[in-house]
Amino acid sequence: MTYYYNGFPQSDRNEKLDMVNVEELEERVKDVMPEGAYYYIASGSENEWTWRNNTAAFNHYQIVPRALTDMDNPSTETEFMGMKLKTPIMISPIACHGIAHKDAEIATQQGAAAAGALFSSSTYANKSVEEIAAAAPEAPRFFQLYLSKDWEFNRMVFDAIKKAGYKGIFLTVDALISGYREANLRTNFTYPVPLDFFTRYLGGKGEGQSVAQMYASSAQKIGPADVRRIKEESGLPVFVKGVMCAEDAYLAMGAGADGIYVTNHGGREVDTAPATIDVLPEIAAAVDHRVPIIFDSGVRRGSHIFKALAMGADLVGIGRPYLYGLALGGAKGVESVIDELNEELIINMQLTGCKTIEDVKHAKISNIRYTADNLPSNTDPTRREAYPKTAENQIKVEADADATSGASKH
Ligand SMILES: Cc1cc2nc3c(=O)[nH]c(=O)nc-3n(C[C@H](O)[C@H](O)[C@H](O)COP(=O)(O)O)c2cc1C
Repeated sequence: MTYYYNGFPQSDRNEKLDMVNVEELEERVKDVMPEGAYYYIASGSENEWTWRNNTAAFNHYQIVPRALTDMDNPSTETEFMGMKLKTPIMISPIACHGIAHKDAEIATQQGAAAAGALFSSSTYANKSVEEIAAAAPEAPRFFQLYLSKDWEFNRMVFDAIKKAGYKGIFLTVDALISGYREANLRTNFTYPVPLDFFTRYLGGKGEGQSVAQMYASSAQKIGPADVRRIKEESGLPVFVKGVMCAEDAYLAMGAGADGIYVTNHGGREVDTAPATIDVLPEIAAAVDHRVPIIFDSGVRRGSHIFKALAMGADLVGIGRPYLYGLALGGAKGVESVIDELNEELIINMQLTGCKTIEDVKHAKISNIRYTADNLPSNTDPTRREAYPKTAENQIKVEADADATSGASKH
């Protein structure tokens, strides 16, 4: 059924999703989402070069299979800053989940908690930090901060997230203004559902604001002193979100950052910024295990998660895929997306002899450049043609159930 907020359609589904991979959800979600909302989520900035290369660049690295590993039943459990998690997959902060589902961040938090994944909530969330915390009281969560020019607003936020038990802050420094996102201009996108912190503070509502207007209320001038001040005033650990080079990792750590968040905002800010996986090794070397590293942008496969962990990340965030899962299946849809990626990660762990996430962090990755990198595979839906039907390739109907499906485990 569809629910309407001021005429804007919102899904109210809550069902597990049947999928072969999470990438296919990007097409399926169009059935339940208006065009402007879809393009707000799916698009990147300018020519979307970074958006495309975030995912493609994982092919610059290869997972080396291991033999005679003498192990089975790998586990994706991991510990992060004292939190016990069932998976290293994290829900990256995304504004306005109400564009995907009527229960917005409440449903996302429930789905993340069911899958045992760390949730993080955007400053631009529709639901209040208290409602989100109440949706899964036992689950750990972080808060993403768009620092406001107005420190009274910032203090109101710190107070609220501390009382609601949030474990720390991701300070976003890569989106001081919005990247040039053409899709939003074409569809005249404005936030259709109010954003809680703005309603609370301004008395008005965040709905009807364009993305550029929202960014205008946040600070454009952010430096190392702000990191120190946020730590002091909030009393919470602060990660710097948007680090893309070793120099900035040093700057952040010098300012007392408790963690580094490697991201290019899913290709939504500087177009032609490098893919995150390509800068991860340089940043991991600079950080040298002094503080934890979170990584996101372009992650669509268990193998991507495996590579990011093996190349220096402690947690791996996903953005768009879980929002599509939220629209298509509510809390259970979010859970399905995390489970699908986690299952794919487990397959890669078994085939490389990695029993634990700690083992993945020491797995062997190679870096050979192949010329066929960007060629579509035989199963790519854009080039798949109807399978030829001949007298010799048909399965007999009277055969047993398994044989009729043609399925194979190998
Ligand atoms: C629709 C959308 C809204 C986003 N909103 C925020 C936000 O409010 N704060 C923030 O720090 N990052 C935001 N991001 C960036 C994500 O946290 C994350 O870095 C990015 O989505 C990862 O890339 P992926 O979508 O390719 O997985 C947003 C991303 C998308 C797609």
